[in-house]
Amino acid sequence: MPKHKSTIWGNHLETKPDQAMIRFSAGRDVASLPMADSELLLDDLWTNRAHTVMLKTQGILEPALAEKIFEGLEMLEQEWISGKFTLDPAKEDVHVNVEHFVTERMGEEAGGRMHTGRSRNDQVATDLRLLMRREVLIFMENVDALGREILTQAVAHAETWMPGFTHTQPGMMTTWGHWLCGWAQALTRDLNRAEGLFHRLNRSPLGAAASFGTSWPIHRELTAELLGFDGVEENTLDAVTSRGELEYEVASLYAQMMNHLSVAAQDLMLLAHPYWNMVRLDDAYVTGSSIMPQKRNPDFAEVIRGKTAWVIGAAAGLLAGPKGTMSGYNRDTQQTKYALLDVVRECRDAPTVFRGAINTLRVNKEEMAAHLNSGFLAAADFADLAARELNLPFRLGYNIAATAVRLSGNAGVITPQAARQAMAESGAEPDKIQQAEHIVSQLADPARVVSWRTHTGSPAPEQVHKQAAQLEKRFDKSKAFVHSARKQIESAWERCKQHR
Ligand code: ARG
Repeated sequence: MPKHKSTIWGNHLETKPDQAMIRFSAGRDVASLPMADSELLLDDLWTNRAHTVMLKTQGILEPALAEKIFEGLEMLEQEWISGKFTLDPAKEDVHVNVEHFVTERMGEEAGGRMHTGRSRNDQVATDLRLLMRREVLIFMENVDALGREILTQAVAHAETWMPGFTHTQPGMMTTWGHWLCGWAQALTRDLNRAEGLFHRLNRSPLGAAASFGTSWPIHRELTAELLGFDGVEENTLDAVTSRGELEYEVASLYAQMMNHLSVAAQDLMLLAHPYWNMVRLDDAYVTGSSIMPQKRNPDFAEVIRGKTAWVIGAAAGLLAGPKGTMSGYNRDTQQTKYALLDVVRECRDAPTVFRGAINTLRVNKEEMAAHLNSGFLAAADFADLAARELNLPFRLGYNIAATAVRLSGNAGVITPQAARQAMAESGAEPDKIQQAEHIVSQLADPARVVSWRTHTGSPAPEQVHKQAAQLEKRFDKSKAFVHSARKQIESAWERCKQHR
């Protein structure tokens, strides 16, 4: 009997597949999409509430009628949460659905006044900013958690020697810890971008109305504050016309981060390949085949690569979307909502799934070390050393090393005889040729070779520890940012609720 009945494969694996990985990899094969505007419903209720509080505070709406609207909005929230309310497609979008609900339950006298001094155009722009800023914080949280996991592994592997590659070909000796710090450093730029985007996002378009303001004495700063924004997106025309721009930025934020994960995913696929075997993905992070019972496929990593290509396309579509529309609201921008929701849905869990794979990854130090004996990984170090110890121009040292590589044939490392002969061929004096063996002998130990690279950012273990410590500080900063942004949002929500 199969151990894992949910799949037709997996008998050969020790552990059950990670369920988040399976969901992420299966994607839309078996998942259905909710109505786009259902994602906005709770945000729309908050926007409505803030607007109602403002109308009441400004004396535009009688307190008793405002109360009725609050009651209607709360009723709707309850019915939504308990699954009793669904959006009626005949009512076009979430905004009309909400207004009609309140009007039906609380009467025209109250519900009919909800739309005073606003338009669906500023309303939807506001809802989307609430959604996007929430998503950017989730993005930051997930990327931060992944970055920290990577750093934990980096510190543990500061002295795990392995080959480094350029052009996917053996290059120089390095450490797994340095490799991982490289991944983490890329993620800090994603966090920087997210933080910058959050500031651009967190301004309120509400009150822009159709695009040209309103004759009602509204108070835009008040609604902005009640919604936890840092301020208003001032010019009413731009506040509406710019819809789609920040959606593009969210997509491009994801696209860049996915590019980083895609490279890391490719690294894992190659390093974990059975022919290389330098790392091993946990059984929970591989999938099997419906016909080949031995397979351990890195599907999640391939899905990350695939989604990366897809999200780049989505970002390009979003960038092009608002092009050439006339200033003011245009219905074209509705399409940007779908692209945005798709991007977030497709990519949101990528850092989390990747984190699980890293957390459970087995690093095969012996195999990594064994690979150091091929590919002439110390050839560049030989050139450096020859140049330094014999006080030669670097190019001469390089040429001696290149000759030595050729003379070493299939050895995979420069042999002492080859080094001697290469020096002799270069016309070096006999006392210099004497040093050939000494130079070669120093290249056998990866700890020694890597420790020569002592400058900032290098793979030398003490530098890796330094990098990891600095990167951790950057992650701490990001975490603090998320924390304070969340606090600002939550306290605005509390204040908004208290106003009834
Ligand atoms: N569902 C619409 C959207 O997402 C709301 C705004 C409609 N406004 C209009 N004037 N037709 O864009």
